[in-house]
Amino acid sequence: MAAACARRSEGERAEIERRRLVLAIESSCDETAVAIIDADGNMLANQVSTQIDFHARFGGVVPEIASRKHVEVIVSVVDAALEDAAASLGLEGGAIAPSELAAVGVTQGPGLVGALVVGVAFAKGFAYAAGKPLVCVNHLEGHLFANLLAQPDLKPPFIFTLVSGGHTMLVHVKAWGDYEVLGETLDDAVGEAFDKVAKALGLGYPGGPIISKLAETGNPKAIDFPRALNSRGDYRFSLSGLKTAVTLYIEQETKAGRTIHLPDLAASFEAAVFDVQYKKAKNALHATGCKEYCIGGGVSANPHLREMMIKKLGRQGIRVTVPPLSACTDNAAMIAEVARRKFDRGEISPFDVDADPNMTL
Ligand code: KG4
Ligand code: ZN
Repeated sequence: MAAACARRSEGERAEIERRRLVLAIESSCDETAVAIIDADGNMLANQVSTQIDFHARFGGVVPEIASRKHVEVIVSVVDAALEDAAASLGLEGGAIAPSELAAVGVTQGPGLVGALVVGVAFAKGFAYAAGKPLVCVNHLEGHLFANLLAQPDLKPPFIFTLVSGGHTMLVHVKAWGDYEVLGETLDDAVGEAFDKVAKALGLGYPGGPIISKLAETGNPKAIDFPRALNSRGDYRFSLSGLKTAVTLYIEQETKAGRTIHLPDLAASFEAAVFDVQYKKAKNALHATGCKEYCIGGGVSANPHLREMMIKKLGRQGIRVTVPPLSACTDNAAMIAEVARRKFDRGEISPFDVDADPNMTL
């Protein structure tokens, strides 16, 4: 671990204390991430160690591997973050020491239980040993708060779309902490559908970035894929029918001896997914009268989805916020932003908390 006691001048010590540094840990899936934020929201460290390469050969995240990799790297990722924060503050006495932090935040859930346990157990031991309070964070709230990293003056009420590998939700954010989930997916999550389509085409994992790159040169109107549960007032989602339609299309074309035009397939698949996302978000905005909209989760890194929401909703007078690209897929900066605010309000967790894989908003 980083040096327990770094040499500091009086002035440096006072400055560190004034900043009330919060270190946050994220380990809910296949990213081990650690960020350090100060009381004003300045991100002083933002480390992400991804395990994607270890899972790619299996075509998806293998929970057992995820847990082990978190265990292997968590100490060095925390150390790197402590060093980055000292460098960001221009300190000469070496890495920030655990005792110089004000609090330790951690993702409590939802996610893979074995992966979450590594982060939570580490955070508890680390905070306890340093004599610092523990702040537990909901990963889904993290994806929402990623928008604050791009737009600090984002204020409820607004409509929020969460599209990740594990979740698809349309949420009416009435106030911070007051969330009405208007609709969720009945089957696959949007990111999961991207991953499954890429897998069916033998293109690798994760599918989102591969499909979105292909779609750049494709015609979104080339293939008419189904749009499920597309009626007004229905905020639920269903992706499995679309996934089956894509698989059938691939089989059909292959049987007929035709070459599949991958860019057209990718663009048409994206259009089917995003048309539904747009329409339901627009309906929810109209129904609630909200004038603000934001989005989060791994799929919100998709340039076509971002552009569609910004342009089409923007034309209707809606202010659209999208997270910084680096804060769409799993990261600890978004967890740090939630932890900082909770700590500020005195929302501390006891040391006997457990990981909660089934947490919801
Ligand atoms: O939020 P995230 O990192 O993990 C979860 O909390 O689930 O999301 C990962 C998901 C994966 O399914 C991945 O394929 C998808 O986000 N993704 C994308 C893009 N980049 C990542 N989907 C569509 N387009 C992208 N550019
Ligand atoms: Zn996530």
